[in-house]
Amino acid sequence: MDATTVTVTGAGGQIGYALLFRIASGAMLGPDRPVRLRLLEIPQGLKAAEGAALELQDCAFPLLRSVEITDDARTGFDGANIAMLVGARPRAAGMERGDLLAANAGIFGPQGAALNEVAAADIRVVVVGNPANTNALIAAASAPDIPGDRFAALTRLDHDRAVAQLADATRRSVTDVAGVTIWGNHSATQFPDLDHATVAGRPAREVLADALGGADAVTRWLDDEFVPRVAKRGAEIIAVRGSSSAASAANAALSHIRDSLLGTGDGWTSAAVLSRGEYGVAEGLYSSFPVTSDGSGYRIVEGLSLDDRARARLDASVAELTAERDAVRALGLI
Ligand code: NAD
Ligand code: LMR
Repeated sequence: MDATTVTVTGAGGQIGYALLFRIASGAMLGPDRPVRLRLLEIPQGLKAAEGAALELQDCAFPLLRSVEITDDARTGFDGANIAMLVGARPRAAGMERGDLLAANAGIFGPQGAALNEVAAADIRVVVVGNPANTNALIAAASAPDIPGDRFAALTRLDHDRAVAQLADATRRSVTDVAGVTIWGNHSATQFPDLDHATVAGRPAREVLADALGGADAVTRWLDDEFVPRVAKRGAEIIAVRGSSSAASAANAALSHIRDSLLGTGDGWTSAAVLSRGEYGVAEGLYSSFPVTSDGSGYRIVEGLSLDDRARARLDASVAELTAERDAVRALGLI
């Protein structure tokens, strides 16, 4: 089988360190597909990437064909089949959201343009670096020859967090949980939705009512515990761990690519993909939706009902995405 070229940006950082070894082991592309790794960093990050490359060599992974390190985007993305855009500018003290958007546009604009010029025809891109949805929008806008549906932003971590919280509350296994959806932005406004979820084949609300003591208790748990817990989990990890989630984010990025390439099977997962107006989300935004893949890329699951509560929460998150898009547009970045 031909080797797949996977480019990881920010490869010298925390998520990169948790991601590279699992890609090289075959956990992302499957046990038969050889991989060529490209590590794209800024000059200050090259030494850390070089260290990771030495350790990759020491693992003697049978599927790993090569590791190349560069600080040049065109070299890094040349012939890439998969690009995982992890490297981003973190929010510094005193930085406003507009400053953060502008700083990251300076990264994702040129990277999108380089992908447009040199990536393989089948390129698929996942944006992990925050603000992920709007960074995906910027990268895609800078890559006019790559179809917009080849870009996505990561909300799989939010999805997996929601699955784990539901399993915990119902004292069931995560493998019993299906039909969870993350809607909107990868931010505190996101809407983790259990309205179509099931636990061991039964509606999640019913199973939760048994576990929590009735329907009113379920509504309180959803609004006061579940939604804020999942939506603010990133901040909770930062507060407890002292830095943002890394291994779980790497795991989610890997699962996002794996399921896009190998398929989602019977169920669905969540990813922030290009809206064509589905569920009333403004066309052109990268918003999280329920998605499936047969191996050819993510498609939005259509036809789910949204009650007033769900509609209001989705609309609030989409309003934030719209404001982010308008901010980068006003800065002339898209
Ligand atoms: P980190 O600071 O440990 O690593 C980031 C790396 O990116 C650094 O090595 C840095 O040198 C590199 N970098 C910066 N600009 C670059 C550029 N222009 N090109 C290539 N590399 C560049 O950070 P981390 O913990 O690995 O997190 C990375 C990003 O992922 C952050 O933006 C974080 O907020 C985000 N994140 C997203 C999710 C999600 O679910 N979407 C979850 C966790 C973290
Ligand atoms: C996460 O969800 O863990 C991160 O996106 C949080 C962050 O701000 O880095």
